[in-house]
Amino acid sequence: MPTLKIHHIGYLVKNIEKAKQTFKALGYVVEQDTVHDGIRKVDICFLVKDGYRVELVSPVSVDSVVSGLLKKYKNTPYHICYEAEDPEEACQELTSNGFIAIDTPTPAPALGGRRVVFLTSPVIGMVELIY
Ligand code: NI
Repeated sequence: MPTLKIHHIGYLVKNIEKAKQTFKALGYVVEQDTVHDGIRKVDICFLVKDGYRVELVSPVSVDSVVSGLLKKYKNTPYHICYEAEDPEEACQELTSNGFIAIDTPTPAPALGGRRVVFLTSPVIGMVELIY
């Protein structure tokens, strides 16, 4: 089994500014202010509390990758993102354990251009893996 480390919990939100203020009211601190991801057509912001990192993701247009999800699930946590020493190996392990890659490793502007891939499990839903 590859060692996976949790990087963040992804939250889907309709209004990123209001969501940011609300997380701040819970004691979270902004780690990285809002960055626009033109590939996925979303705005992204990171907050931290007690060593936990939350990623706010908000669609900026109707053809964003998460517009459909937001419409269906409203404001909700929707993925946990992991880091691995050997992401290639980790991805293979995950797929051999029932996960299905739903895209290919694509640069994430909010993570300094590091590539990420999303996988989905019919049992636990979506996870993200940083390359
Ligand atoms: Ni994420």
